[in-house]
Amino acid sequence: MIPFFDLHTHMLYGVDDGAGTREEMCAMLDMAYRDGTRAVCLTPHFAPYMGWGRDGGRAERAFDELRAYAAAHYPDMHLYLGHELGYHAACMQALNDGSCRTLGNSRYLLVDFPEAVNFFEIQNAMGQLQRMGYHPVLAHTERYRCLFTHMGWVREFVQGGGIVQINASSVLGTWGSMAKIQWKRLVREGLAHIVSSDGHNLSRRPPRMSVCLPYLEKHCDARTIRRLMWDNACRVIRDEPF
Ligand SMILES: [Fe+2]
Repeated sequence: MIPFFDLHTHMLYGVDDGAGTREEMCAMLDMAYRDGTRAVCLTPHFAPYMGWGRDGGRAERAFDELRAYAAAHYPDMHLYLGHELGYHAACMQALNDGSCRTLGNSRYLLVDFPEAVNFFEIQNAMGQLQRMGYHPVLAHTERYRCLFTHMGWVREFVQGGGIVQINASSVLGTWGSMAKIQWKRLVREGLAHIVSSDGHNLSRRPPRMSVCLPYLEKHCDARTIRRLMWDNACRVIRDEPF
C-alpha cells in the first residue's frame, strides 16, 4: 500500500477548532498512523478575526510536543508545520511579518475561504498571492459553491500554477452532494493535485486519508493515486515546482 501524506490537518491542540487537548492530538496522530499516513503537515487556522493564529507560540510548543511523541512512537512519521490562511483583507501584513506560516517554510501557502465566498473574491485573492510570489494551495476546493459554475477558472488557476487540494471525506458526501459531485469532477478532469484529511478531531472530522481510496482505485491509475496521496504533497514541502 502507498503511504499517505496529509498536508492539511488541525491536530495541534488548543490553537483553533481542532484538537482540544494533548491527549486528543496524540490520539489523532495514532489514528492517522494506523490509517497509513506517514507524513503530516500541521496547519492550524490563521484567522485573527476568529481569534486564531496569533497564539504567542502555542502552536510551535504543541508542534514540539507532537514531534517528541512521534519520535518515541512512530520514527518513520514525518511532521511539518504550516498554517491554513483564512483569506482576509489584512492578511498580507501577516504574510509579510511572518506571523502566518507557509507550508513547511516553502513558497506554497494553504488558503481557505467561507463556503459561500463570492467567485471574484477567490479570483482576486489568488491573483494577488501569486503576484506576491506565493504558490497558493486552494483548501478543500470542492466545497466552494461559486466554483461549481466556474470550472473554467479552476482550469486557468491550475494552468497558472495554482494547486487544488480536496478533502478525502468529501467523496463520501460529508460536505453535501454538490461537494461530492465536484470532488469527483476535479479528480476525473485531472484538476485535483492533493488529497488531505483536514482532520479536526477523532469523531466527526477524523484524520483519515484512506476513505477515498475505494473511489480512486476504481477510477484512477496507480500513478495518479500516488500523486494525489503522496508525491504532490512532497513537492510542496520540498518547495519544488509542479
Ligand atoms: Fe482546514
